[in-house]
Amino acid sequence: MVKESKTRCIGILTSGGDCPGLNAAIRAITKTAINVYGMNVLGFLDGFRGLVENRTVHLENSTVSGILTNGGTILGTSRDKLHKMPMGNKIIDMTHVAIENLRQNHIDCLVCLGGNGTQKNALKLHQAGNINVLTLPKTIDNDVAGTEITFGYDTALQIATDAIDRLHTTATSHHRIMVCEIMGNKSGWLTLGAGIAGGADVILIPEIPYDISVVVNYLLERRRKGSKFSIIAIAEGAVSTDDENKKTKIQKKKNKKQTDSTETSEDKNEEIILSQQNIYQESKANIVARQLRDLSGIEARVTTLGHIQRGGVPSAFDRTLCTLMGTKAAELLAKGIYNVMVSYKSDSCVPVPLDKVAGIRKCVPLDHPLIQAAKLVGTCMGNK
Ligand code: F6P
Repeated sequence: MVKESKTRCIGILTSGGDCPGLNAAIRAITKTAINVYGMNVLGFLDGFRGLVENRTVHLENSTVSGILTNGGTILGTSRDKLHKMPMGNKIIDMTHVAIENLRQNHIDCLVCLGGNGTQKNALKLHQAGNINVLTLPKTIDNDVAGTEITFGYDTALQIATDAIDRLHTTATSHHRIMVCEIMGNKSGWLTLGAGIAGGADVILIPEIPYDISVVVNYLLERRRKGSKFSIIAIAEGAVSTDDENKKTKIQKKKNKKQTDSTETSEDKNEEIILSQQNIYQESKANIVARQLRDLSGIEARVTTLGHIQRGGVPSAFDRTLCTLMGTKAAELLAKGIYNVMVSYKSDSCVPVPLDKVAGIRKCVPLDHPLIQAAKLVGTCMGNK
């Protein structure tokens, strides 16, 4: 006997970087939506691109059976945005096509699983076509506002911590500085968490611009006291105080451009190309390792964890979190509660209005207890 539901047909897509737990969430939404509320569930492949290209898969009990423990996403993902989608050599607003496809597929609500970008894109879609959306917060970065935790973070935290543990033994044997680059371009939750859990000597996160001379002095002092090795956990988006000053100047220029009515589509394309070029720049970990080697005279090596942090099976915590969030999503859909993000608060899931959280990044507050704790155990955070 199925329960009453205000929603008959839902679409699901996964968007942005993949992470462990996506399949567990897809499974929980699908099973509950079908078996408890009698809904139809349609998956759109490869994020918002599949929605534009109308590439779909019917999700049934059999499709989601056995995927709880699998990493990645059975639906595939992409970083495409509806309003700025690369089509051939042009960037085009494809929102109207997405809206048409949702209507043709009789979708009452589109469920979007993703990080900050996805929350924003889902809200834009809702605002553009009065489309019902519901989102789940996913990212190893743990930087989505309005939720205590995002799924994927716990698994990545354990992977990064294991890596630091392993670096310890080789660092002690060679008396080296080991610089470990951890994901997190704009927020340092993962680096801070893994750095503390793995006992890193220096933790550098985007929220706290570092002064390289502070780090060098700290490492030399450590050596003087008898510790011949050091572990540095550095977020991929860590910034030096010099970088920070440059970034502020660029941001000011960008703000001016945005308010400038003469801004052309070429300007926008140039900005996209520049941000793509950034991906191929020398990593911050390499720069820091070179500087430390030159300034301290101590041998240094770099390990970039990269996408290993996002791969493989989800932790037990992420599996349960995704099951909790996914089942809550189905319950909200059945009640006709739309345009919300399923958020995790005090051991349970609650809906928060999407327009209150989309576009807001949850960075590590400078007075966060974890930063205080790191400092209290003698960790250098790169500043004085
Ligand atoms: O958003 C999650 C994340 O893993 C970030 O930590 C990282 O900066 C980014 O994705 C990498 O993106 P991509 O897989 O597209 O290179």
